[in-house]
Amino acid sequence: RVPALTPPDVLARKGGEPLVCLTAYTTPLARIVDRHCDIVLVGDSVGMVLHGLPSTVGVSLDMMIMHGQAVRRGVERALLVVDMPFGSYEESPEQAFRNAALIMTETGCGAVKLEGGETMERTIRFLTRHGIPVMAHIGLTPQAVNTLGGYKVQGRGDDAFHIQRDAEAVAEAGAFSVVLEKVPATLADRITKTIPIPTIGIGASPTCDGQILVADDMLGMFATFRPKFVKRFAELGDAADAAIASYAREVRSREFPGDVHVFTDRKQGKAE
Ligand code: KIV
Ligand code: NA
Repeated sequence: RVPALTPPDVLARKGGEPLVCLTAYTTPLARIVDRHCDIVLVGDSVGMVLHGLPSTVGVSLDMMIMHGQAVRRGVERALLVVDMPFGSYEESPEQAFRNAALIMTETGCGAVKLEGGETMERTIRFLTRHGIPVMAHIGLTPQAVNTLGGYKVQGRGDDAFHIQRDAEAVAEAGAFSVVLEKVPATLADRITKTIPIPTIGIGASPTCDGQILVADDMLGMFATFRPKFVKRFAELGDAADAAIASYAREVRSREFPGDVHVFTDRKQGKAE
């Protein structure tokens, strides 16, 4: 059995082979992601993707812990990272520590992720100095959708300076990696070159030290949500639609269940 990847292992991959990262919210998908990826993230995107919430703002600590526990059971070799939900860390480094420790002890994850750059510098330093590895998340930070006024590209023009400063702040504070979401490629290139920790891009640049996507997005589970930065590697939503349509047709025509799906009066084999 290969030992699980640790935050220091991830840090050591700076400038090396790209870090392959993907989200998972359930045990069966976590098992598949674990076979191919370096990092499995239980993202708070779970609120929108699985629970139908309008944004990640309504995601609770309980939801993150429950999905974190499910994913933990499917992960053996990748690093498991769990998102801290909105409202669970912004108040103070102490509040952040209390809730991050709860997430770690309840889920057995190897690190937590939180959104924010310079404003979270003190908190990231406090957590890392007290034994909790932190992945930072800057650029477009979806938990701030209400103040940002939408899911727009961040750091264009003069705003680039602020994102660059956020990247330097989280690295300085001790984060072992940082997600760069929806920023111009040139800015992602510059940040990747200048900070000492791995950058993990989503809608960023191929030069980032790693890439991440929401698994359900790249598997093509939805017809409606198709952001530019998501490449669809499959169309599972279409496949599920077709399969369910066939099931409905066969139930209505009594084609299903067939002879092989029903039981005779006498036992036929071991599986029965
Ligand atoms: O919640 C999430 O899935 C994320 C990734 C997209 C980075 O934060
Ligand atoms: Na997230």
